[in-house]
Amino acid sequence: MKSFCLPQDLILGSATSGCQIESGDKNSNWYNWCLQGHTKDQSSCISTCNHYQYFEEDIRLMQILNQESYRMSIEWSRIEPKQGEYCIEALNHYRKELCLLKKARIRPVVTLHHFAHPIWFEEKGGFYQKEGIKYFLKYVEYIVKELGDLVTDWITINEPNVYAVGGYYAGRFPPGDKSFLRFFRVSKNLVKAHILAYNKIHTIMSRKHLSSETKVGVAYHIAYIDPHTQSLYGRFIYRLIQYVFHDLFIQGTINGNFLFPSGGSQRYGQKGKKYCDFIGINYYARHFVKVSWNPRQFFGSIEFDENGHLNDLGWEIYPQGLFHVCKRIYAKYKLPIFITENGTCDEKDAFRAKFIYDHLYQVKRLRDEQVPIERYYYWSTMDNFEWEEGLKVRFGLIHVDYETQKRTIRDSAYFYREIIKNKAVTENMIERYLTTEERCLERLRKQSS
Ligand code: GCO
Repeated sequence: MKSFCLPQDLILGSATSGCQIESGDKNSNWYNWCLQGHTKDQSSCISTCNHYQYFEEDIRLMQILNQESYRMSIEWSRIEPKQGEYCIEALNHYRKELCLLKKARIRPVVTLHHFAHPIWFEEKGGFYQKEGIKYFLKYVEYIVKELGDLVTDWITINEPNVYAVGGYYAGRFPPGDKSFLRFFRVSKNLVKAHILAYNKIHTIMSRKHLSSETKVGVAYHIAYIDPHTQSLYGRFIYRLIQYVFHDLFIQGTINGNFLFPSGGSQRYGQKGKKYCDFIGINYYARHFVKVSWNPRQFFGSIEFDENGHLNDLGWEIYPQGLFHVCKRIYAKYKLPIFITENGTCDEKDAFRAKFIYDHLYQVKRLRDEQVPIERYYYWSTMDNFEWEEGLKVRFGLIHVDYETQKRTIRDSAYFYREIIKNKAVTENMIERYLTTEERCLERLRKQSS
């Protein structure tokens, strides 16, 4: 293992989303979904980390961990629990949280839609209906007007590709649909919602808040799909999955047009204009194409290599994938990149430090090759509710005991803290955190006593 330096201007932080950490929101579609028993361990987002109550303590922990930036979401279902009725208490809560972050010199990046939304919105058809776009824009307008004095960086929609696949094609997310056609319709509406939100945010930020530094983007889930398939048919399926899962969304939201089959040549924005100021990349694992004859799987599926290095959920850890993904996306779109999520579930904290080391090493390589990676957010700041997987998997830098709500900083988080401080991994750090587990733990014990 080698020591290495990171550029001083690389901003390092971590990410969460409200529904996954806040607890207590009965107006969220995910609350209903959990009530219907859709999580694997029967847990619910109603009771997670109580961050809504403990945000002050959590920000203090982020400070201890030297976090330079924090990606968080605002929960629409708290802000507008009933259509057209805005909740001032919730607005003030987020204002307080953002002010505290500012005071702690932690730069917020706010996601406006991170999978969850109000029940009334879901009942009206969500993003499946055209009106859904209108409702979303009203909420966006409200938030940006009210909180734009505290935020410059916005993510309109988190992982539109996963949201559309999960909710409308695979049935794993609410509303639990399984339809090819509905998947395309929702995808198209999501692209449109982003383009319109992009314009709206910029207009409000420049007119009302006189901000010229506003950055707006999307956080895409971009998997590294290994292109090495044996057959010609396999190559075709590889291209098809890339197209449907990645390109439709990325190209649509950046260039303002939605590709075939949903949009045809339909254009939502002006030709030549870009509708993202940065590209948010959520990267986790490597997948392989498995050919099948099932049209419900686009005639193929993507799977993990069981013999690879797997995390607690069986996802293959493949740091070079981050390098390939960023290279490809930058070559195509030439926009700055924020790695808006990258992390792993590792209950024992046995390989998280190594995971961070390996992925940041790829970030260094990318910067060496002039790919403008401007930020990196570890997923996640703390353990949280992992959607259908429930509470059993642990992604956090901070361990959360869900019974007592006690927070404990994990050893790997101390490693990340030092990386942020030094903007480097030194030999001494490698020795303390990345050599054999026991040695590493012993040293840490000594250090804290
Ligand atoms: C996503 C979401 C996060 C997840 C994380 C780990 O990528 O699905 O943005 O909410 O918790 O990615 O799976």
